[in-house]
Amino acid sequence: MPLVSASPDHIDQAAAFLRAGQLVAFPTETVYGLAGDATDDRAVASIFAVKGRPSFNPLIVHLADWEEAADLVLMDRRAKDLAIAFWPGPLTLVLPRRAEARVSLLVSAGLDSLAVRVPAHPVALALLRATGRPLAAPSANPSGRVSPTTAAHVAADLRPAPAMILDGGACQVGVESTVLDLTAERPMLLRPGGVPLERLSALLGPVQSAMADPAALRSPGMLPSHYAPVLPVRLEATEARPGELLLGFGPTAPPGVANLSPTADLTEAASRLFALLRALDRPDHQGIAVMPIPEQGLGLAINDRLRRAAAPRNG
Ligand code: TXA
Ligand code: MG
Repeated sequence: MPLVSASPDHIDQAAAFLRAGQLVAFPTETVYGLAGDATDDRAVASIFAVKGRPSFNPLIVHLADWEEAADLVLMDRRAKDLAIAFWPGPLTLVLPRRAEARVSLLVSAGLDSLAVRVPAHPVALALLRATGRPLAAPSANPSGRVSPTTAAHVAADLRPAPAMILDGGACQVGVESTVLDLTAERPMLLRPGGVPLERLSALLGPVQSAMADPAALRSPGMLPSHYAPVLPVRLEATEARPGELLLGFGPTAPPGVANLSPTADLTEAASRLFALLRALDRPDHQGIAVMPIPEQGLGLAINDRLRRAAAPRNG
């Protein structure tokens, strides 16, 4: 029975599985992750296999504190300031990989950079400390599908099941971490996420966006079709057409429909996004119509995921 409560005993067992090269699903504040020992080539390779993930798409390394991150990557002043301000938290930094870093080369997918983050979830931090290894962990969903925000989502989706799924309840943030590339002089936003862009620019000054400049795309995870339910998704909808289910936002949504946030609170909307997309992904309907979401704060991450869910599918 791989789905278990995240008790101290189960966390210790999960750590033993990880040290033995097996995979464990665990909660973070953003989404559930599928973890493997980042120093173990075979464990990392099995992450790619279970997710059906293209091996050119690199993984995030999770660490218990910023000092552990500084052992693996070169942290300049900007990176240290961001770590102090936002770690533990939903920010991933892409930084130059140290030559001596004992992390599988598969994690970086051939790049000379490494993505690192310290997650803000007590179970994630306890698991990292108990394992004593950096953990490579993508979202615990089959590649291209909606990310899991509960342990039950993971149990329903992943085949074969990981050695253990630690249940830490529903994820509070609900969208993935913000990915910021600091390998060049100009900071580049690779993926909007749990830390709003406005908060990064307040600290760093102007931040370039890879979404605005696809030629500069350095995050292979930014494939157009991603985070997709089975049903087609239509954006900026004012109402459901015949056969569609409406995903509402704000007080103007018709009563009774699924609503990301009846009070138009973007934090609440982010935390409910993936669970509602899953709930509306019903074979007895023809599509999901989504009402407009403001393009500010966490709305950037929400709209990014929705645009990918609505993008043409590549097979
Ligand atoms: O919130 C999150 O970040 C979750 C939880 C589990 O921590 N993880 C997650 O991982 O979303 P994943 O693998 O689904 O997304 C990682 C993103 C991808 O877009 C990937 O391309 C990018 O980070 N990435 C990882 N390493 C990179 C690198 N060296 N250079 C550029 N982009 C990188
Ligand atoms: Mg993912």
